Amino acid sequence: MSNSTLSVHKILHGLQGNLTVPGDKSISHRVAILGALAHGSMQVTNYLCSEDCLNTLRAMQQLGAQVIPGDAPQNFTIVGTAMQPHAPAHDIDCGNSGTGMRLMAGVLAALPFASRMYGDASLSKRPMQRIIAPLQAMGARIEAQGAKEGCAPLQIDGKRLSPITYTLPMASAQVKSAVLLAGMLTGGTTTVHQPAITRDHTERLFEHFGIPATISDNGLSISVTGPVTITAKNITVPADISSAAFWMVAAAIVPGSKLCLRGVGLNPTRNAILRVLQRMGAHIDITPTCTVGEPYGDITVRYSPHLKGTEILADEVPNLIDEIPILAVAAAFAQGQTTIRNAAELRVKESDRIATTVQNLRTMGAAAEEFEDGLAVCGGQPLHGAVLDSFDDHRIAMSFLIAGLQAEGHTTLLHCKNINTSYPGFAEHLHRFLNA
Ligand code: S3P
Repeated sequence: MSNSTLSVHKILHGLQGNLTVPGDKSISHRVAILGALAHGSMQVTNYLCSEDCLNTLRAMQQLGAQVIPGDAPQNFTIVGTAMQPHAPAHDIDCGNSGTGMRLMAGVLAALPFASRMYGDASLSKRPMQRIIAPLQAMGARIEAQGAKEGCAPLQIDGKRLSPITYTLPMASAQVKSAVLLAGMLTGGTTTVHQPAITRDHTERLFEHFGIPATISDNGLSISVTGPVTITAKNITVPADISSAAFWMVAAAIVPGSKLCLRGVGLNPTRNAILRVLQRMGAHIDITPTCTVGEPYGDITVRYSPHLKGTEILADEVPNLIDEIPILAVAAAFAQGQTTIRNAAELRVKESDRIATTVQNLRTMGAAAEEFEDGLAVCGGQPLHGAVLDSFDDHRIAMSFLIAGLQAEGHTTLLHCKNINTSYPGFAEHLHRFLNA
């Protein structure tokens, strides 16, 4: 088995015991960025040490933040720059991370120096115009220099910006956050209106760090008045519900399973996967541990022999956008049809996740249909093992390795290196269950 190829087989025993998946990716990026700007130092516990989030942390070090190692790689102290970051000595490598690049663009556009960000082949094809347009409307000087129009590398000539009121053309937490981060460094009030509720980690961290923000219209409108002062404050990152989702589905589809996922983020703007799986008939018990800040708790999933298809509602889509590939896998093991529409954003993720999910499901023998804005899966037929491509997409790789745990024979996923962008240790967790 080469480093980038992973193979699994149908397992005949359930997934048992407790599992702790790594820290939340979205929260980790934001903690690095806000902590790096803050006055003072703060302990970060359970940061996601994946390639994506480490790239953002290194970028913040390039701006002058210090990182003092703690007792484990995921625990460290950030010494902030007291709102005085300096120009990076080198171009900033964002690796595979759209979140890192888009969020940092908001910050860098409002700082008084030039910077340049670049990414890998996949990131260099992803749309950046969605953040460039509102930032330019604030007066930012950003040039997309990629071979593909509107794509990275991004050359940013930072300057004092003007506040803006911006209505997002799509439900994107990254675009919302890029504008809010620029707004917090800009004099005056910047307001973002979103068409649907998207993950609100930026808003929650604003509160954590004492950044005054106003949330209205049931969470659809957020205003921040800058320039703000950020005060460092210790933080613990919960386990990533998007990573936990792979094991929720694994436990639901593999007979004999009873798996407890520990300390998982339960933020209501991220937890629709739980409601949808329960609606499909999955046996899921949730024990909240903490309900303030970023809520988290334990999730126990048992084998669920009577899964049935469901329709994903339009306003659920932003809440489970990253879980759709693994949800489609669950749908393949459920009786009846599952339909996901209003999800065209999937086409501009690390891969075109509508096309890649449908292709891999079909290769395993599932009935799946592709729409411009989503997909339908008609479940209930047994899946067979296959050799599949991950299309260099971490979530496609992990979703189909989980499918392989309950497909006849062997399943091999090619090009799995990208799993490290969000879930270092996934292969070890997988082997723990394969070898149990
Ligand atoms: C993220 C927002 C989502 C999500 C991504 C992380 C974030 O992207 O898919 O993995 O941390 O804000 P969009 O904002 O593009 O929908």
